Amino acid sequence: MSTRNVHVVGTGTIGEPLIGLLTSLKDELRLDRISFHKRTPLLTDRSKVVNLLKRGAHLAVDADAHQGFVDLGIKPELETHEALEQASVVIDCTPSNVGLANKAELYQKYMANTAGFIAQGSEFGFGKMYARGINDAALIPGEDRFIQVVSCNTHNLALLVDLIALQGAGPENLNTARFLCIRRSNDISQDGSFVPAPQVGTHTDEFGSHHARDAYHLFKTLKYDFSNTLFSSAMKVNSQYMHTIWFSVLVEKPTTQEEILQRFVECDRAAITYKMSANAVFSFGRDYGHYGRLLNETVLVVPSLAVRNKGREIVGFCFTPQDGNSLLSSISAAAWLMDPEGYNKQVQCLRKYFFDEV
Ligand SMILES: NC(=O)c1ccc[n+]([C@@H]2O[C@H](COP(=O)([O-])OP(=O)(O)OC[C@H]3O[C@@H](n4cnc5c(N)ncnc54)[C@H](OP(=O)(O)O)[C@@H]3O)[C@@H](O)[C@H]2O)c1
Repeated sequence: MSTRNVHVVGTGTIGEPLIGLLTSLKDELRLDRISFHKRTPLLTDRSKVVNLLKRGAHLAVDADAHQGFVDLGIKPELETHEALEQASVVIDCTPSNVGLANKAELYQKYMANTAGFIAQGSEFGFGKMYARGINDAALIPGEDRFIQVVSCNTHNLALLVDLIALQGAGPENLNTARFLCIRRSNDISQDGSFVPAPQVGTHTDEFGSHHARDAYHLFKTLKYDFSNTLFSSAMKVNSQYMHTIWFSVLVEKPTTQEEILQRFVECDRAAITYKMSANAVFSFGRDYGHYGRLLNETVLVVPSLAVRNKGREIVGFCFTPQDGNSLLSSISAAAWLMDPEGYNKQVQCLRKYFFDEV
């Protein structure tokens, strides 16, 4: 593919830092153009759009919203259909089910000139599930043109399973894995959905919450069958910082605390920390991360790690760099769609936003 244009749809919690990251890494990722679609011309969002334009991104809007942006003093460069027509890859960052509707009503029409389309965690059924470093081997060039980047907590669960049970031992080593996803109520960029006190979730099927179910589907792309193996519960707490996960993983082959810790230390997508609070880890991300984000898929709390039950049960807490891991996989999937052979080398530029220790 000669032209490498990436088009991002949505400028919310995921879309905005994604557009920012793509513009920062434009040369390293060998991109020609980064465009983004903003649906609503809002005075409150003007500063965001202006700053994304300053960073070199190109604005695309619907024809009927054009005048609204002009009235705000912003001149859109492209119309939605032009941006889609010229895009090599489209990354949808819209809220729940909009990505699925966009696929049915819009994206299917642009298959001829676009390498592929990517959507985020809420869009179950959009395409092949993906988490960077977990199931890259499952992506099939030319066939997987719709990819769903799994949710932030699913990234974390999958990496915990991978590092604790699968590494060096294979899928047979995993007996069962239980997770409690203690979620922050809303993002600092969002005004709605705050909860005043801890609020528990329901268990909808044999996987509990969608996190274990999505991890099951993710591993299924590698032909691993973890039905009756993974289970998650979820709750929200009145914090805006980071998600926290409690885990208990039962393995067949006895292990030690040192061995497990070593695997986290050696994995670049995992960080370790001796900090015990979500706010301390979040604050580190704010100071050193990209747009305040850590791109690691998990942050293991070392003092919480325990190995019991004669070396067969591994228990601990970790934090989820919520939108960071989704940014990592979104860019990796986009690079793969444009160049399945060479993408691995290109995405090494993201390493500067990984931390070994937080
Ligand atoms: N927030 C997180 O921490 C997080 C983490 C991992 C994954 N995710 C996933 O990422 C996706 C996006 O979440 P988010 O939190 O970034 O959402 P968000 O902050 O609510 O932003 C949504 C964006 O989508 C745009 N939009 C809404 N409806 C649209 C439509 N019909 N057509 C085009 N654009 C539309 C909005 O544009 P206007 O403002 O112009 O209307 C807004 O910019 C979801 O699948 C979510 O599950 C989120």
